[in-house]
Amino acid sequence: MAVIPVETPGGRYEVRIAPGLLADAATHCLPLLRKREVAVVTDANVARAWRGPVEASFAAAGIATHWLELPPGEATKNWIQLGAVLDWLLARGVERGDPVVALGGGMIGDLTGLAAALLKRGCKFIQLPTTLLAQVDSSVGGKTAVNTGAGKNLVGAFHQPVLVLADPLALDTLPRRELAAGYAEVVKYGVLGDADFFAWCEANGAALLAGDPAARERAVATSVSAKAAIVAADERETRDVRALLNLGHTFGHALEAETGFGAALLHGEGVALGMVLAARYSARTGLMAGAEAERIAAHLAGSGLPTELAALGLGADGAALVAHMLHDKKMDAGTLPFVLLRGIGEAFVSREVELADVAAFLDGELASPA
Ligand SMILES: NC(=O)c1ccc[n+]([C@@H]2O[C@H](COP(=O)([O-])OP(=O)(O)OC[C@H]3O[C@@H](n4cnc5c(N)ncnc54)[C@H](O)[C@@H]3O)[C@@H](O)[C@H]2O)c1
Ligand SMILES: [Zn+2]
Repeated sequence: MAVIPVETPGGRYEVRIAPGLLADAATHCLPLLRKREVAVVTDANVARAWRGPVEASFAAAGIATHWLELPPGEATKNWIQLGAVLDWLLARGVERGDPVVALGGGMIGDLTGLAAALLKRGCKFIQLPTTLLAQVDSSVGGKTAVNTGAGKNLVGAFHQPVLVLADPLALDTLPRRELAAGYAEVVKYGVLGDADFFAWCEANGAALLAGDPAARERAVATSVSAKAAIVAADERETRDVRALLNLGHTFGHALEAETGFGAALLHGEGVALGMVLAARYSARTGLMAGAEAERIAAHLAGSGLPTELAALGLGADGAALVAHMLHDKKMDAGTLPFVLLRGIGEAFVSREVELADVAAFLDGELASPA
């Protein structure tokens, strides 16, 4: 089992990574429980695959589980469901010291985490992430949120979990497209700060996607270590350290917004294409070699991820995509920090990017034959 400690001002906890952790969840959660019962929030897809093993594990330890199964999908991450989760937890008599368990992907983790942040001004919560994206990214670091009509993740809180259990076997039931989307965030850690890990991804990504549990465990552990180091240095993104995790996300969010934040382009797919755009933009401005940018594109494309803007068939031009960026919550006094690259493994935050130049660059990418 890999154990990655996360140390932030908001809390110290462990991310434990090993095959079989879900079926053995009770063993790991027991020391944190004060009662013989625990509340679990999940979605219906995850429940179908994983409620059985988790419930059995707690039952064998003499712990009753209470289940709230929400509708799957990003649309559930809203005010109404947040209120429903809170009412349900209050009706179960959950107290501050009782950890609430979030079993699911980033949608369930973000929603349940925010409910935990608000319940009685903050109760404990445990993350059992079941998507690759949640295991390498959203379950670690304490960002919680819901979406509103004005945009994604605009209302939230920093609230760290008390424990994260990442089970590579959970990914066996994940749809292939969701797996690849989460893999984009794995590659991101290599591209932003670890050229050796990027090379490891090139060599082992196909095995990981095909189901190799050792490759999955290694990728999750390396990714979580990278995120833990960044979050420890800059929990609340007040310096330009945590902002590095937004590599590919400024471009990606614009593409997600343009395509309606839905099945047309999953978040990780937007990040993959966004990372390629950040790399190509960096090459265009002379920061990195074009061949390095294309090396990133080749690996992501080979992993089944979108890397060509023209192939999306958007009706928008570069200016329209940049207009989406202006709604980014990272907008700061009229400037938008961009994560650019000096090479693979060498990301940095630039506040000098001209949005008109980005629009012109995107027009070129939109026009280039895929
Ligand atoms: N808090 C953060 O730091 C952070 C970081 C990145 C993303 N996010 C958020 O995470 C969310 C996206 O997370 P996601 O990609 O995990 O999406 P998700 O939670 O919606 O899961 C994707 C789909 O897979 C299904 N699923 C999940 N686990 C499964 C399993 N093991 N087997 C079968 N099906 C399974 C879900 O029901 C859903 O249909 C977004 O809301 C995003 O804003 C948060
Ligand atoms: Zn992301």
